[in-house]
Amino acid sequence: MTKRLGIMNYKGGMGKTSLVVHLAMGLALNGQRVLVVDMDPQGSVKAMLGVKASSGTYELLVGKQPVADCITPVRDGLDIIASDERLFPASMQMVGFPNREFVLHNRLETVHGYDYILIDSGPSFDLLAQNAMIASQNLMVPISMDFMSVVGAKQLLKNVKLLNRLFDQLIQVQHVVPTFYAQRQAKTIKVMAAVESLFGPDKIRGPIRSCADVSNAAGVGQTVFEYKPKSRVIPDYNQLLKAVMIEGDNE
Ligand SMILES: Nc1ncnc2c1ncn2[C@@H]1O[C@H](COP(=O)(O)OP(=O)(O)OP(=O)(O)O)[C@@H](O)[C@H]1O
Ligand SMILES: [Mg+2]
Repeated sequence: MTKRLGIMNYKGGMGKTSLVVHLAMGLALNGQRVLVVDMDPQGSVKAMLGVKASSGTYELLVGKQPVADCITPVRDGLDIIASDERLFPASMQMVGFPNREFVLHNRLETVHGYDYILIDSGPSFDLLAQNAMIASQNLMVPISMDFMSVVGAKQLLKNVKLLNRLFDQLIQVQHVVPTFYAQRQAKTIKVMAAVESLFGPDKIRGPIRSCADVSNAAGVGQTVFEYKPKSRVIPDYNQLLKAVMIEGDNE
C-alpha cells in the first residue's frame, strides 16, 4: 500500500523542502519507489534536485492530462510532480471547482506503483496547503530551533482540527522533526522543551542538525547523499529514514 506523508509548517524556511528531498532520496536509495508532489509555487523541489520539468502540479490540478504525463523521473526509484509559478493562478482557478479541497486527493487516487508519496507545501494555509493536508492525512512537521516556528506549528495544529471537523477527516501529525538543530545551544534546549510540551515526546524524530552541506548540495542540484556522502548530516537523515520506514511497517 502507498504511504502518503505531507511535510508542513506555516513558517517559511523551516527546511521543509530540504527534508522532503532528502527523505525521498534516502527512501529511494533503500529500494523504495517514491513520488514527490510539489504543492508550492516556488518550485524548489525540482531546483534542489537539479532537474527541469515541462509539466507537473499545474497540469495535475487544473489540466486534463493523465497523471502519468505530469510525472518526471529524476533518480532511480524517485519521480516528482514538479511545480512552478503557474501554481498560484491555478489555485485561484481551483476556488471555483466543486470539492475544491479534494482536487489533489482525487487526482492521486489514480496513482499506483509507489511505496511512498511525499507532498511538499509552501509556508501558508491556502487552498493548496488544504489540498496537501487532505491528500496526505499524515503530516511531518519540521520545526527549526526558533520560537516563531513553534508558533507556526501551533497554528498548524489548530487548522488540522478545523479541517478534520469541517470535512470529517482524520488528518494527524505523525512526525515532528527539529531542524537547524544545534545541540547544547541554550535556544535549542528551550525550543525543544516547547516542542515537547506541544506534541509530547513520542512524535519527535531526528533531529536534523544545521549543516552547510545541505545548502551547498542544493546549490548544485544534488542531495547531500550524492554531493557529500560522508557529510555529518547524513546520519541524521538516516536516523529519520529508519523511523519513517519502521512506522510504515507497523501500520
Ligand atoms: N539542515 C540544514 N542545515 C543548513 N541549511 C539548511 C538545512 N536545511 C535546509 N537548509 C537551507 O535553509 C534554506 C531553507 O530551506 P528549505 O528551502 O528547505 O526550507 P522551506 O521550509 O522549504 O522554505 P519555504 O518555506 O520557503 O518553502 C535553504 O537555503 C536550505 O538549503
Ligand atoms: Mg519549501
